[in-house]
Formats: sequence, structure tokens, C-alpha cells
Amino acid sequence: MTIILAHRGSAGTHPENTMESFIAAEAFGADGIELDVHLTLDGDIAVIHDTTVDRTTDGTGRVVDFTMEELKKLKANYHYKHFFKKTARIPSLREVFQWMDGNHLICNIELKNNDLPYEGLEEKVIALIKEFNYEDRIIISSFNHYSLVYIVNNWPEIETAPLYSDLLYKPWEYAKCLGSRGIHPKYKSVSDSIIKATMDEGIAVRPYTVNKERDIKRLLQINCSAIITDYPERAVKLRGK
Ligand code: G3P
Ligand code: MG
Repeated sequence: MTIILAHRGSAGTHPENTMESFIAAEAFGADGIELDVHLTLDGDIAVIHDTTVDRTTDGTGRVVDFTMEELKKLKANYHYKHFFKKTARIPSLREVFQWMDGNHLICNIELKNNDLPYEGLEEKVIALIKEFNYEDRIIISSFNHYSLVYIVNNWPEIETAPLYSDLLYKPWEYAKCLGSRGIHPKYKSVSDSIIKATMDEGIAVRPYTVNKERDIKRLLQINCSAIITDYPERAVKLRGK
């Protein structure tokens, strides 16, 4: 059965990458969530998509120039006030993990270290995964494939998957070369035949970001390993529980 991963939570209906968005995803019946992480000034792991806080909060500046406590003061629903009035905050990865203790969701952690290098991000994320014993519930993805290989070499028990947005030739071979058990391609860059050929090679395919009903249906029909969507409620309804 196709696994439904809620992109930045239920980002189509709630402020992205907030606890409110993750809680909604669970309520809608998603099997897991996808979230993005950056390092803060004080070495904490913040759950936010962009390198800066400008687009998603009422603040300005780079995430890496804020402490976690300072980030917490920002309103993460600020630009979503037209549909979400309640104040939402930027969570730390620890907070998300604490919440996961009460459910069985999968968590796809996207390391946003393809812009700033965030020295030590991998170690910090892995230490937290191990502290919570979440090794079997986590998939680490990134556009920084060197970072994924670093993880595979040091912590082979942690599942990784490369993110990419262009057409790749034989992506299953590329995944194997990285030591990854899955790929996370941009939805439009993979055809049905590539998805099938990749899955036949034992590599999971989890395209992003699949929002339109007809696209979700198409991937469900070919039994794609997973889909990453802003609308988990829509995807769960189409798939069934
Ligand atoms: O992980 C899938 C997707 O989130 C990758 O792109 O920019 O939405 O983080 P982006
Ligand atoms: Mg992401």
C-alpha cells in the first residue's frame, strides 16, 4: 500500500512545519510527516523550510543567527493568518520527537544543508534519533548527497534517500551508489516506467510534492511506495485507510 507522507505536515491547510500542521496530518490519517531542519545559533535543530525566517514568520534574518529561544518568539502562522488565526511557533526537532512518542508516525527529516553547510548537523540529528530510539521510524533525505553518504558510512542503520528535481538516468543505480534504500524525486521528473523499474530493483520511490487528485490517483494506481503531499486528507481519502 502507498504510504502517505504529509509534506511540512498538512501544509495545504495549516502553517507549514508547525506542530499544528503535524497534528493535523496525523488526524487526517497520514502515515508520516516530512519536515525540514536547520541549525540555530545555539546549536539546536529548528524545524523550518527556508534558510531565513522571512517567508514563513513575522521576523527577518537567517535561522542560523537566532537562538531556538528567539525563534520561538516568532509567529509561524503570520503569513497564513487569512486561513489560520491561532498563533503557531517554530518547533525544535526535539519537540516533534516528543509528540511522536504518542503515535506511530514515520518522520522524513529533510536536512537543509545544501545552502549553508551546518557543520555537525548530521551528528546532532542522529544523536536525537538514537536518544528516542526512532531508528526504524526515520528517513533522512537531502539535496546534499554528500551528507547522505556521510550518514550511510557512519550510521548505516539509518535510512537515507536522495532528493532531486531533474530526470536521472537509472536512479536505482544512483541510489545504490549512495547506499540509499529509496529515492525522493520531484514528482514531474519520474515516469511510471522509471518508478516501476526502480521499485523492481528494491529501491523505494517517494515522489514530492503530489497534490492534484489525478496525480495522486496515478501513483496509487501503480502502487508507488509513498507520496509526499501537502494534502494528506485528500490522499488518504483517495487511497482509503
Ligand atoms: O522532501 C520533499 C520536499 O520537501 C523537497 O523540497 O523544497 O519542499 O523542501 P522542499
Ligand atoms: Mg522538504
